[in-house]
Amino acid sequence: MSELKTIILAAGKGTRFKSDTPKVLHCVAGRPALLYVLDVAEALGSLKTYVVVGHEAKLVGKAVGERARIVVQKKLLGTADAVRTCKAEFRNARGTVLVMCGDTPLLDQNVVKMLVRAHARAKAACTVLSANLEDPGEYGRIIRDHSGEFVAIREHKDATPEEKKVPEINTGVYCFNAKLLFGSIGRIPVNPKKKEFYLTDIVELFCRKGFKVQAVATDDWTATLGINTRKDLALAEALKREKILLQMMSNGVTIMDPATTYVEEEVSIGRDTIIYPCTYIHGGVRVGKHCSIGPFARLRPGTKLADHVSIGNFAEVSRSTVGAGVNMRHFSFLGDTTVGARSNIGCGSVTANYDGKTKNKTVIGKKAFIGCDAVLVAPVTVGDGAVVGAGSVVTRGRNVPSYSVAVGIPAKVIKRVKKT
Ligand code: UD1
Ligand code: CA
Repeated sequence: MSELKTIILAAGKGTRFKSDTPKVLHCVAGRPALLYVLDVAEALGSLKTYVVVGHEAKLVGKAVGERARIVVQKKLLGTADAVRTCKAEFRNARGTVLVMCGDTPLLDQNVVKMLVRAHARAKAACTVLSANLEDPGEYGRIIRDHSGEFVAIREHKDATPEEKKVPEINTGVYCFNAKLLFGSIGRIPVNPKKKEFYLTDIVELFCRKGFKVQAVATDDWTATLGINTRKDLALAEALKREKILLQMMSNGVTIMDPATTYVEEEVSIGRDTIIYPCTYIHGGVRVGKHCSIGPFARLRPGTKLADHVSIGNFAEVSRSTVGAGVNMRHFSFLGDTTVGARSNIGCGSVTANYDGKTKNKTVIGKKAFIGCDAVLVAPVTVGDGAVVGAGSVVTRGRNVPSYSVAVGIPAKVIKRVKKT
């Protein structure tokens, strides 16, 4: 592939979203939409990636971090103006510029790879990724002449009733010849209705100049879904969730009820683990093999479960590491906690990890037994094989020694237990 650089448009306000948060930072499966588009650029080996920011520029820039170069669009004058802001970065540029929108979280790297290849093969000035939709909604329409040649993109607002019937839409992903793009980008006329400069108008401009333009269709329309409204966001979430769950199942995880199981991005679950209904697993969580999770369980970020762990109904684990064979079957909470292998966390017991100012750590050893309704006020340590009696409160800073029994409020050590 020839030299590839990428521009991701992410300056827009997202007016239709009616949100205080920039649209591209709304999450799908726990991750901001924009980051998925950055993933695609990276997967394609983009030599340099620019993200055009404007509305809430600092926030968006922070989410991007070191992953791309930030370019600021001072006034939001449309998608062509957003691309034009990068012009200085492309002085003497050769090769291909891939332009994507930051609001397409389901964009698939293979679909974009196909586009880049088709662009290179045709030696085109511009290749637009299109899709055929049953309900083309408010997307721009791909306009072809009588011989089927692609000649323009018409925005929904400007389309005639006939043009609105066209099922082939512009996905907002394009490849350009860098030199020709920046040679023409300043010549796009303002759209008289919206008073914005539309990148889509470059197609007609190129046609007039005799440059080669083409639209190549993908049959994976979901990959190009642009989230313009909260309704689109919910649809993207549902599609992404289905994809994640199917992947888990194909890896050997039983998902008893996919309709009520929520697993965010970057979660790993070992084979033969069973996820019972109404369970939410947040991004980055690691679950081992042969575990049993739910029903009605929540695993929050920073959680790592080893193999053969059982987390039952109305149980929550957050920022905690849980050893092999641990049972925590009902109504419990572990936060900022390490639990050693084969311990039992009794019904209704909780770690009180937050003192109103900071989060404190709890360490529970191996084969410990935390009785029903016990409260461990962190920071606190419970040793290997120790027993904390039902209803006890182990107060902060206390250490229940290994193989001892502590009971009461505040809990006191009353005897030793035999090592097993
Ligand atoms: C755009 C296309 C439309 C296509 C659709 C695909 C134009 C004129 N229309 O419409 O043909 O079907 O995408 O999803 O391009 N942005 C900026 N600066 C601006 C304006 C927008 O960076 O001044 C960014 C937005 O943050 C967004 C992207 O460009 O990520 C697209 O803008 P948006 O307003 O969502 O365009 P659509 O109406 O969806
Ligand atoms: Ca959009």
